[in-house]
Amino acid sequence: MRFVGVLLLVLVSATTIQAQGPSSEPVGTLAELMRGIAFPASNRISDVQSVDPASPEFDPENPNDTRPQSRFSQIYTGWPTVDSAAIALAEVAKLMMIPGRLCENGEPVPVEQDNFTQWARELEEVGIKALEASRSRSIEAVIEVNNDIFGACSNCHGVYRDSYTDPPKDRCVP
Ligand code: HEC
Repeated sequence: MRFVGVLLLVLVSATTIQAQGPSSEPVGTLAELMRGIAFPASNRISDVQSVDPASPEFDPENPNDTRPQSRFSQIYTGWPTVDSAAIALAEVAKLMMIPGRLCENGEPVPVEQDNFTQWARELEEVGIKALEASRSRSIEAVIEVNNDIFGACSNCHGVYRDSYTDPPKDRCVP
């Protein structure tokens, strides 16, 4: 009887242990996040300007290339990959705002700055707009959103990434 009681207790406490989810700690620098998500995603959307996502040329496949990147490139193809790229842009805006992330130069990402926050918000909005355009399967609509995407990237870059001053100022510093 006593043994059963102990066993029950063990079982009950085992089921109440909280599963540990992913942390909210940033893993990469802002530049790494941009290179990993923002850059390939915006390029994918930009591709719609030159190739119709409904045509096979949009997803070139090299049958001799056995690397996973190439082999699995035919699993998700065409318009749905433009949808995913738009979603990636909208979501990366949130990841940019995770507290504690650093820029490549060791400066904290300027999430405290109103204009940085505003431009991150605009990136999310433009991502959602791109998703709507992509889901409508209209090449013209996506081409139009491309200008907005370019604007969203360059507004923020003009102040926080690219430096037009002489001497150049530090990145990520307002
Ligand atoms: C809210 C501000 C903001 C927005 C919006 C933004 N970026 Fe950035 N981006 C930065 C900052 C700041 C850096 C420099 C990060 C660092 O030094 O770690 C950067 C760096 C980058 C880099 C790395 C450059 C390098 O040195 O290799 C790429 C690529 C990039 N951004 C692409 C994009 C694209 C594409 C978009 C739009 C789809 C975009 N970014 C939108 C702020 C922004």
